[in-house]
Amino acid sequence: MHRIVLEGRGDLSEWRRAARGLFAAKVLPEDIDWRVRADAADDLFDMPAADTAKIPAVSASSLLTVPKAFLSLAEAVICHSDPARFGRLYGLLFRLQAEPSLLAIRADADVAALRTMEKSVRRDCHKMTAFVRFKEIPDGGYGRRRRFFAWFEPDHYIVSRVAPFFQRRFTDMDWMIATPKGTAAWDGEELHVSSSPAENPKLSDQTETLWRTYFRHIFNPARLKVKMMQTEMPKKYWKNLPEAELIPDMIASAEAEVIAMAERAATDAPLFHTRLQAAAKTPVASAVSEPTTLAEAREQAMACMRCPLHCNATQTVFGEGPENADIMIVGEQPGDQEDLAGRPFVGPAGRVFDEAAQAVGLDRTRVYVTNAVKHFKYELRGKRRIHQKPNLGEVQHCKWWLKLELDFVKPKLVVAMGATAVASLTGRQQKLGDLRGDLLDIDTGGSMMVTVHPSYLLRLPDHGRQQEELARFRADLAEAVRFDRQHIQPTMARPDVGNQRI
Ligand code: URA
Repeated sequence: MHRIVLEGRGDLSEWRRAARGLFAAKVLPEDIDWRVRADAADDLFDMPAADTAKIPAVSASSLLTVPKAFLSLAEAVICHSDPARFGRLYGLLFRLQAEPSLLAIRADADVAALRTMEKSVRRDCHKMTAFVRFKEIPDGGYGRRRRFFAWFEPDHYIVSRVAPFFQRRFTDMDWMIATPKGTAAWDGEELHVSSSPAENPKLSDQTETLWRTYFRHIFNPARLKVKMMQTEMPKKYWKNLPEAELIPDMIASAEAEVIAMAERAATDAPLFHTRLQAAAKTPVASAVSEPTTLAEAREQAMACMRCPLHCNATQTVFGEGPENADIMIVGEQPGDQEDLAGRPFVGPAGRVFDEAAQAVGLDRTRVYVTNAVKHFKYELRGKRRIHQKPNLGEVQHCKWWLKLELDFVKPKLVVAMGATAVASLTGRQQKLGDLRGDLLDIDTGGSMMVTVHPSYLLRLPDHGRQQEELARFRADLAEAVRFDRQHIQPTMARPDVGNQRI
């Protein structure tokens, strides 16, 4: 029997050296008694010295080859705290020489046992990365980096395996993580790892209060799953987690807290709740008869639920302007201010449009101004409602209303401002650049010209570029005025009659 005594603190090279020598000497797995020095201390005196130290030397020709996957498995398993790991690894190494595909056979008892150890080590590593809690050591001194200390109790010898993670993550501070299974420390230049057991100095500092506050704030009683929580944060780690002392109370009060939350929510109904309630009592837009006037279309649009955008918007923003307007301006969708006012183009983009229109002699009171989508689509960031571009489905749903506006107003010229308006009017997503400057026909009759959306001008960061684009935008609107003068005004004087749909 060969007795091999190792330090056994997660260092693969120690076992590897011994295994190579033993294998070269053709020592069978069952003839080796693997020991860990700390466990063997008591009976070291009984051991024949030769057996303890004499690991056969290996020549280069007797080096072993193993699949890469074995090395990665061994690197994890060697950190396991079970003393049987050395023998199990050697047994597998031995068998691999005759069965090179052995690792693929998950049901094999040796492979399965080693995989279980590997899994346990990986899980322990993961827990260490999640549950180390640093405390600041106050006497950093002037000009020195801040220093932190953490105490952790892993199941296995994983400190050297996990230390590089902390080095990458906390590179700008000095830190030490001490455990009963070794210590790692980083000083900004070198990572020091020692396998000597450390003792818990039981430090405490203000970060503990911070952790507790943070934990209290992220805890959602409505999502509490005690079993899952205990699997994710097993109780054995609690004693070193400052926030853990809150857990029993939080669990105990979760139910009452959920009831209180529900009651609070009931007094704070979402914006669209009342509207949905009202709409449920009136026939939905698609069920009522088709509108025969623009005014009827507008009224029906106010109860529109064709797509989910109505849920969060304040109201439908329908088009406005003379019913017999020769020019119709189509934008994308109402913005924040339009949503509140219930009128199109009254916010910042509206001001850009108004100024440009005025500059080229386009009288807003003579044109019909509307949008491809009639509800404001946005995302809440804090208290701010940030514009979101409507998707093609939403544009398609809302085309119903735009088509009615086109049918009733019958404009001679439609000015599509931006890609959404173009997509709605042509049914296709197209590049503005390819269409700009042309006079196009549209299905509903009349002509269309394309320009940019005024919001695009507002978003341009470069002042010079903004002025250039603004000038092009004005030129586009001037084209519309010219078209109006040349093709529309000379040929007709249209009374405002409230057109009927035919
Ligand atoms: N942008 C639009 O497309 N329409 C508006 O009404 C306001 C901003």
